[in-house]
Amino acid sequence: MLADGNFHSGQDLGKRLGITRSAIWKSIHELSKLGIHIVSVVGKGYQIPGGLSLLDQKALTKELNDGAQQMLDQIIVLDQVDSTNTFLMNQIQSQPNRTLACLAEQQTQGKGRRGRHWVSPFGHNIYLSLLFHFNKDPSELMGLSIAIAIAVSKTLQKLGVNDGLGLKWPNDILYNGKKLCGILLEMVAKQHEQTSIVMGVGINTQVNDQEAINIDQPWISLSDILDAPIDRNLLASMLINELILTAKKFAESGLEPFIKDWERLDCYRGKAIVLHTPKEQINGIMQGISNRGELQLLKADQTQVSFMSGEVSVRLEDLV
Ligand code: BTN
Repeated sequence: MLADGNFHSGQDLGKRLGITRSAIWKSIHELSKLGIHIVSVVGKGYQIPGGLSLLDQKALTKELNDGAQQMLDQIIVLDQVDSTNTFLMNQIQSQPNRTLACLAEQQTQGKGRRGRHWVSPFGHNIYLSLLFHFNKDPSELMGLSIAIAIAVSKTLQKLGVNDGLGLKWPNDILYNGKKLCGILLEMVAKQHEQTSIVMGVGINTQVNDQEAINIDQPWISLSDILDAPIDRNLLASMLINELILTAKKFAESGLEPFIKDWERLDCYRGKAIVLHTPKEQINGIMQGISNRGELQLLKADQTQVSFMSGEVSVRLEDLV
């Protein structure tokens, strides 16, 4: 009821829910513990400033296109989970060959790349994972994370995020140089030419300063970019539509159809960067990507080297 962003008195809430005002007070307290900002004003009642757009399975399913409806076996919407990626990784054995999507209002152990934590407060942002099965060896799926970054960018562009949107190899989505979305792919190689992939996407829709204390890099939310309020169900279903389309296209044609889009959005191309590998730091000029999705770096001695994602991270030289 409070999701509409208006004031509701304790008495009205109690009446509609058939519970006492003190039970309402306790519930409000529980919601606050989830990190939801609730204002309480004497004579007016309770309010969630800006309201909440909660996930809703029906609303989500309504916006899925035919391709996604045919492909998806189930969409799982959870209030709280350790990580939507971990949840789907745990389904692979018991639900072989099923295509699943999982969304959560909150992740208690959201995972980022290279072992980092992904800040995942309740009711804000998108935490989505998709389990997809490929008739391919893992080696043929090397460029998939690049294609997924293109899929997420296309979804954002459809919502009106344009100037300022950029990609940082391998799959960070930035807006004016600040992190807007992250992508984490996890895989299980089964027998010959059978690989299951969990594609996890986190989009900042509305992070507040308090929640952002634990984010260890410059960040931005969709609410800072777009004027209109964000319908998380619409955003999530548009994202699922695009991810499924992309996974199918990649299964058929590999990375090739995505390279042009990458070149348009690559915001580090031609820039001086420092590449951090577990062993060393290498300086050079970012030359773009190979047709397998490897980063290509021109070193000071004019030799060109290629890197696959994994443990490698990239920084602009003047930020180091
Ligand atoms: C990154 O470090 O940039 C990748 C972040 C990926 C976060 C998403 S949120 C949904 C899915 N579940 C997780 O635990 N991580 C991914």
